[in-house]
Amino acid sequence: MPAGKKPRFNQNWMHRHLNDPYVRKAQQKGYRSRAAFKLAEIDDQDKLIKPGMCIVELGAAPGSWTQVVRERLGFADHRLRGRVIAVDMLPIEPLDGIHFVEGDFREESTLKALQSVLPEGHCDLVISDMAPNLSGVAAADTARMGDLIELSLDFSKLHLKVGGCLLVKSFQGSGFSQWVESFKREFRQVLIRKPKASREESSETYLLGKGLLPRPSAIP
Ligand SMILES: C[S@@+](CC[C@H](N)C(=O)[O-])C[C@H]1O[C@@H](n2cnc3c(N)ncnc32)[C@H](O)[C@@H]1O
Repeated sequence: MPAGKKPRFNQNWMHRHLNDPYVRKAQQKGYRSRAAFKLAEIDDQDKLIKPGMCIVELGAAPGSWTQVVRERLGFADHRLRGRVIAVDMLPIEPLDGIHFVEGDFREESTLKALQSVLPEGHCDLVISDMAPNLSGVAAADTARMGDLIELSLDFSKLHLKVGGCLLVKSFQGSGFSQWVESFKREFRQVLIRKPKASREESSETYLLGKGLLPRPSAIP
């Protein structure tokens, strides 16, 4: 590439970013990213967040979903009406009332740190916007996304209350139908969500499991 010439991809990205209505709206409302509107739309439709809940949020940085969660739990006497434990391998700017665990969710040490702050070991809702760094190699990216989804599901099977919900980011494509099937084994209802703020050209899709089923009782 000739010296001084910027890659076309970055120019396209910048043009799209500057003209994106969700970017502008996020700036006006003080959200840390446009992703806030994805969770807001899903929650408007599915009514996942309710005051008093204990919510675990995976892949929280920079924190715009966390901002939406705080708003929707609300405050009483300046105290958050609920508990939020947010996890990310990247640091986030602190948000009042949020317990943040910094670490890789795939690591045992992060899981232990998260488990140690879960009141009575349970939560009402798990939401995950975690995404792997994309390599561009479809099979490898699907496998990495699959690992994150599987770990979120395993965590939910252990720590989500019966009847609770799990929302995860996923990709449409190979692997997707398997993820849907694994959700169907654990939840009363499984829904697929593509909020308007999720770019049409992106394969990003959210998978929502509603109503965690009781664990089958141990065989005597
Ligand atoms: C799309 S961003 C989340 C944006 C966030 N929902 C918001 O609204 O600000 C995905 C996040 O997942 C995190 N992430 C990806 N893999 C992770 C892992 N294994 N453990 C912890 N965080 C992870 C990344 O660091 C990144 O911050």
